[in-house]
Amino acid sequence: SPVSQIRNFSIIAHIDHGKSTLADRLLEMTGTVAKEDMKAQLLDNMDIERERGITIKLNSARMNVKEDGHDYVLNLIDTPGHVDFTYEVSRSLAACEGALLVVDATQGVQAQTIANVTLAMEADLEIVPVLNKVDLPSADPERVCQEIEDVVGIDCSNALFCSAKTGQGVPEIIKRIIEQVPAPSVDETQERMRLLVYDSFYDNYRGVIAMFRVVDGSISKGQKIRFKASGKEFIVEEIGIMVGGLRKPVSRLSVGEVGYVCANIKTVGDARVGDTIIEAGTENEVEALPGYTEATPMVFCGLFPAESGDFENMKTAFERLSLNDAALFYEPENSVALGLGFRCGFLGVLHMEVIKDRLEREYDLDVVVTAPSVEYQVQMSDGTETTIQFANMLPPPHKVAEIREPYCLLEMIVPEEHMGPCMELATQRRGPRIFLTQGRALLEYEVPMAEIIRDFFAELKSRSRGYASMDYRILDYRSNDLVKLEVDINQTTANPLAQIVHRSRALQFAKKITGILQNEIPSQQIKVIIQARIGTHIISSKLIKAVRKDVLAKCYGGDITRKKKLLAKQAAGKKKMQAIGKVNVPSEAILAESELP
Ligand code: GTP
Repeated sequence: SPVSQIRNFSIIAHIDHGKSTLADRLLEMTGTVAKEDMKAQLLDNMDIERERGITIKLNSARMNVKEDGHDYVLNLIDTPGHVDFTYEVSRSLAACEGALLVVDATQGVQAQTIANVTLAMEADLEIVPVLNKVDLPSADPERVCQEIEDVVGIDCSNALFCSAKTGQGVPEIIKRIIEQVPAPSVDETQERMRLLVYDSFYDNYRGVIAMFRVVDGSISKGQKIRFKASGKEFIVEEIGIMVGGLRKPVSRLSVGEVGYVCANIKTVGDARVGDTIIEAGTENEVEALPGYTEATPMVFCGLFPAESGDFENMKTAFERLSLNDAALFYEPENSVALGLGFRCGFLGVLHMEVIKDRLEREYDLDVVVTAPSVEYQVQMSDGTETTIQFANMLPPPHKVAEIREPYCLLEMIVPEEHMGPCMELATQRRGPRIFLTQGRALLEYEVPMAEIIRDFFAELKSRSRGYASMDYRILDYRSNDLVKLEVDINQTTANPLAQIVHRSRALQFAKKITGILQNEIPSQQIKVIIQARIGTHIISSKLIKAVRKDVLAKCYGGDITRKKKLLAKQAAGKKKMQAIGKVNVPSEAILAESELP
């Protein structure tokens, strides 16, 4: 089809505002997929993301539409909806000329929506506001339009109202995409092939499948291609388009089109999101497309198999997972307390949770996670500099001149009635407020990333009765009075529990962690002394007397799910004890540590 009849667009929406439902409806109303085939075809692969209510990727869909006697091709390019995947969102948007901004008319604008719309505006996309769920009695699309204008700064005089559920208003959306989203622009001076990789994933049968947008030139089956950044070359086995969730091979794709390529690629690390595909042999003449960066892990933690015999299985699992995840970092670690395991790096907390879940569900591994950490920049007294991700890597204080930690711009959207407690939370986490607007407030804070990677989101949700949303992006690294907090159990240092914390927060952390350990460590034949210290200075100390007693007796008031988990594990006779200083410490105690204040 001529390039003037192609429309490449994505849908930007907050979780649950109806992106998947609208995508389904678009496919159905354009006759791309019959209604009864929808579920099986579209809602397939990633169970975990489904069950968690998060669509990480829906992939792409090509639709053919007849409008005013012309044939149009509409390519819906999906964007992941979560903060951890901002870079991938930006690459997907770079493959489009327009975006539908879908907002739930019963709810309003959410923080992630703003973040993604900002990316879309930076990418110069034409943005079409769509108010969804107007079939619901509580829908107030006019109010939400006003909110979009105020908070996001987008003109809503032409906003569309629809119900993705009933299909009302959906034909108008299709019309509007054709009218308002520009056709791909073609640079006539560029004949050489340049394709933008906006997604890539591993398929058990085909190897890596890379999704791309043809920016210049064209691609054909049998051609020899090169990934500019990775430098890897492959022969194109198959190219094609996605129709209703199914791959349909074609022989050639040209400028403006989107499609997939299979070329016997073994790992997504060779075909990274944001890389440019060029024709092999042209690398000296053809420049890469702008905007490529390698995904860098921002959150680190230790993952250990609860069964020590499972180390090899866990290693295999990581190898397989990383085939499909170029951002996953892992390396073996041998901890005195936890045995053989892995140091891991993730894009963010959700990424970490998804991997942990997959290890447990798909690979049937029981996993112990240490408290997540950020990466610190350490300026040494001798002038050299180093970065560390784990407290144990911190050199002794006399060798350290300065420690810098990453700061984030944190945005929260909070209904007025819950503003107080939410602002208090951000202040507790060392975030001076920098910006405030609206009745439903947009709060902006500059907060150390370390303060939001643990339980910040859960805490925000509970303080706002579920009505607040948040998003963050990294700003820079800042020097702070950071110290290493260590924990000794009967004079033996429990390495996995060491943490870097701000001096002003050390006492609070110390009390909490010694308290948790006191609750979780069962009484033993010997008395147990738990101490938290900075250097040699002990700041919190707890004692467990040497008597036999019920392991659970101390759990009263504790977290009920943890208690249940503990019971279940004991019932299964699987309780894993770590010997630290001749004291048996349940793995749960180490896990619980990640729930610090
Ligand atoms: P994630 O998949 O979690 O990212 O969410 P999403 O944005 O894709 O939302 P999804 O399409 O899954 O819709 C969320 C919920 O809202 C589902 O229960 C839908 O059935 C419902 N929903 C979506 N659109 C409408 C609508 O127009 N009207 C009504 N009443 N419900 C809708």
